[in-house]
Amino acid sequence: MILIDGKKAAAELRAELKEEVAGLKSKHNKVPGLTVILIGDLTPSQIYVRNKEKSANEVGLKSEVIKYPDSVEEKTVLEKIKELNSDETVSGILVQLPLPKHIDKQKVIEAINPSKDVDGFHPMNVGNLSSGYESSIPCTPLGCYLLIKKIEPNLSGKKAVVVGRSNLNGKPMTQLLLKENCTVTITHSKTKDLKAECLEADIIVAAVGIPELVRGDWVKKDAIVIDVGINKTDNGIVGDVHFDEVSKNAKALTPVPGGVGPMTIACLLKNTIECFKRSQK
Ligand code: GUN
Repeated sequence: MILIDGKKAAAELRAELKEEVAGLKSKHNKVPGLTVILIGDLTPSQIYVRNKEKSANEVGLKSEVIKYPDSVEEKTVLEKIKELNSDETVSGILVQLPLPKHIDKQKVIEAINPSKDVDGFHPMNVGNLSSGYESSIPCTPLGCYLLIKKIEPNLSGKKAVVVGRSNLNGKPMTQLLLKENCTVTITHSKTKDLKAECLEADIIVAAVGIPELVRGDWVKKDAIVIDVGINKTDNGIVGDVHFDEVSKNAKALTPVPGGVGPMTIACLLKNTIECFKRSQK
């Protein structure tokens, strides 16, 4: 079984991006800039944002974090986004989710200029991705896609099963696999026989947030299994895949932690650089 090392893959991607940033700096005499807006004091969000900032600095991006208290008015955030949209030194804008209840998430996402939307959450980018046009691609599915391609460069005709239909992961993951000519099944909480669906799959991407849902006898020999889950349990952090069982069957599997997570942040940096390059055209 191949244990897919997301930490190593992310470090390799960051090294490539660092070189690319150095090249862009000498060509344009400026570097891509990433601005993250963090609202409130949720610990996981703070950790994510700190890691994003650290990685951005490591590859040579200009990085800024704007923090607001939980009580900030929606209007203040929307005004700040407007200001960042017209700031030439800002290539990418990310508003860390989740947001406090009194702030309308969709309004915030739609306020970001689609050409600076490094999350790929703006409806314009969602639409462009599903139509096969150039767009920002959500970081987690992009990270999963790059890991899958490392194991199997030619995905044409493969059967892929995506477990979970979220806008963040499941739906964009489906689009990426379709683009590679996979036959894709999206499954979710109302799917009648999830095990039977998974048993058909050459590739499984589990992104539902249910601890250890995908079991060893759900997985065909030689399947590639990507675990997007990060679930807190009494036994620590576990994924959506039963690691011990599935590792006995699958051809390749991502661990949790150390699989998809590190790739998500590296892909955010990649998206920031892509936004910068498109802005210089
Ligand atoms: N919170 C958890 N994951 C993400 C993500 O990919 N983007 C943003 N903006 N917030 C998140």
